[in-house]
Amino acid sequence: MTIEAIDFARLYRDHLAMAARTRKSASAWDSRAAGMAARALQSSYARDFVARMDLTGARSLLDVGCGPGTIALAVAARLERVLALDYSAAMLDALRTQAAARGLTHVQTVHRAWEDDWSDLPACDIAVASRATLVDDIGAALARLDAHARLRVYVTHPVGGHFLDPAIQHVIGRSLPSTPDYIYLVNILHRMGIHPRLDYLTQESRLAGAQDFADYAQRVAWSTGGLAEDETARLQAWYERATSAERTGAPMRWAFISWEKTPC
Ligand SMILES: C[S@@+](CC[C@H](N)C(=O)[O-])C[C@H]1O[C@@H](n2cnc3c(N)ncnc32)[C@H](O)[C@@H]1O
Repeated sequence: MTIEAIDFARLYRDHLAMAARTRKSASAWDSRAAGMAARALQSSYARDFVARMDLTGARSLLDVGCGPGTIALAVAARLERVLALDYSAAMLDALRTQAAARGLTHVQTVHRAWEDDWSDLPACDIAVASRATLVDDIGAALARLDAHARLRVYVTHPVGGHFLDPAIQHVIGRSLPSTPDYIYLVNILHRMGIHPRLDYLTQESRLAGAQDFADYAQRVAWSTGGLAEDETARLQAWYERATSAERTGAPMRWAFISWEKTPC
């Protein structure tokens, strides 16, 4: 058997299906919009992502799964046109508020999903998908991003596939299945004839900023798809005696995958 026989997009789909319990709907993301707008835009993750982008010769950008504008707004002042696409209406509301506060009038929101019809969306010089690629058909998603970019594409995808440190899962007696990590994307791109650059970003765990146990438990519940009463009790008993570093858990790592479009 050779690597050509492996259908990585199919493997990704099968792997993601096993993790379906913790997948999020648009309305679930709506509930995170205010919190993300407050934190993500100022984060070291956003700074590190933007520092790795090359905007040479670029006038336009498409940001897919843009959230509150973490990447789109950070680079908008250097561009003439920015399209920010997300299926969460509340994320787009937060983005418009932030754009208005910065006087960025050339940022246009698109209320749409990865899976919707994009035939009316123009190609942009740069296409971005930051922390927003846990979609069923990752092969189709990557092909769409590539087709909508004239110069360069930037994508981040989890390393390791855990959004909650396995040590904290252990505390509540869970062992969540991993979500498919970045290595599938590299292989799928290779099959598409694309040979991307690979780098890594570190993001402090979301649990770090929790105000109190109620806030902490809510953040853990986001990653576990809810907490039963006995799980909450176990988490609280552990939380009372854990150090601040133990509560925070391991940082999240993201693969930063990028490629240049080859001129036709
Ligand atoms: C973790 S947030 C990332 C937001 C932003 N890109 C960032 O890096 O801070 C994931 C975003 O992807 C969006 N999203 C998830 N699945 C989507 C889909 N199928 N179509 C469009 N947007 C989606 C969510 O609404 C959310 O805003």
